[in-house]
Amino acid sequence: MPVSPFIRDLPKAELHLHIEGTFEPELMLEITQRNGVSLPFTTVDEARAAYRFSNLQDFLDIYYRGVGALITEQDFCELTCAYFDRVARQGVRHAEIFFDPQAHTARGVPFSTVCRGIESGLQYALQRYGISSRLIMCFLRHLDESEALVTLEAALPFRNVIHGVGLDSSEMGNPPAKFARVFAAARDAGLACVAHAGEEGTAEYVRDAVDVLKVQRIDHGNRALEDPSLTAELAERRIPLTVCPLSNLRLGVVDSLDRHPLREMLDAGLMVTLNSDDPAYFGGYINENYEAMQEHLGVDDATLARIARNSFHAAFLQPGRRTELLAELDAYLLEHDMHLSVR
Ligand code: ADE
Ligand code: ZN
Repeated sequence: MPVSPFIRDLPKAELHLHIEGTFEPELMLEITQRNGVSLPFTTVDEARAAYRFSNLQDFLDIYYRGVGALITEQDFCELTCAYFDRVARQGVRHAEIFFDPQAHTARGVPFSTVCRGIESGLQYALQRYGISSRLIMCFLRHLDESEALVTLEAALPFRNVIHGVGLDSSEMGNPPAKFARVFAAARDAGLACVAHAGEEGTAEYVRDAVDVLKVQRIDHGNRALEDPSLTAELAERRIPLTVCPLSNLRLGVVDSLDRHPLREMLDAGLMVTLNSDDPAYFGGYINENYEAMQEHLGVDDATLARIARNSFHAAFLQPGRRTELLAELDAYLLEHDMHLSVR
């Protein structure tokens, strides 16, 4: 999908990105060979052909298989560096990155290996490209809360590296309330809290993520629109929704991009951002998501700029860094004679 020059260089933050979901087949095959692990495919074409899914669970089954190739600190570092090498060319100035520690510790990979490897990649991004970042550890919601509590304990020594906690994996049948205690403990430890909700689950899941888990952002949140009073509250409280159009298409959350609910979300006054989720699997990184909304919904540049502005407001940034990034965005818009239209 060709991306317009305006979108390409628009300064923006990525707020919904699973680092394991950036594992491109080329790197996966290289790391697989190095580690002597076997996968159900041996070429890039075979890998891409295997990436067929019609819902979240189908996808997760393939995603967790790929994750199994990651073993050493170097693997996690290379994965993270490869992600930043790509998005440094997409105007990304700040990225908040999810990882799934339980998908690794369950295979015997130490928590510290995962964390140190990703952290080296974050340092690389800052030094090489000036891209700032935050790391968010997700609990796998198909597992028990007791396992999430063990994971939170393991994370506490890495409190300086891990900024927050999230909740991902199979949503249906695993409501937010199942994780009430671990989110309360994470909050008490001073961690930021976010959760996937309303991707496949109902508006009730979004409501509980806000009321019970007390999250600061909702990841996806599409189905919140089914409840007008919840939608009004999210808008009023400016609780951000990290929306992922290409993911929504590939996982059957929407049946076509022409019918993506982004416009309804904007019209309802919701604080939305555009993001890529698992770009190696869903056919595009952040800019392809921006482009898809322009192409399929006719969202204009000024509105995309407003969404980029939302991304800096919704990010867990230090105040000084937020001011700097908003100023960079303003300067970019001024260059494009757009400063008045998006305020
Ligand atoms: N893990 C990776 N991507 C996910 C998604 N889109 N929803 C839930 N869990 C995930
Ligand atoms: Zn996600």
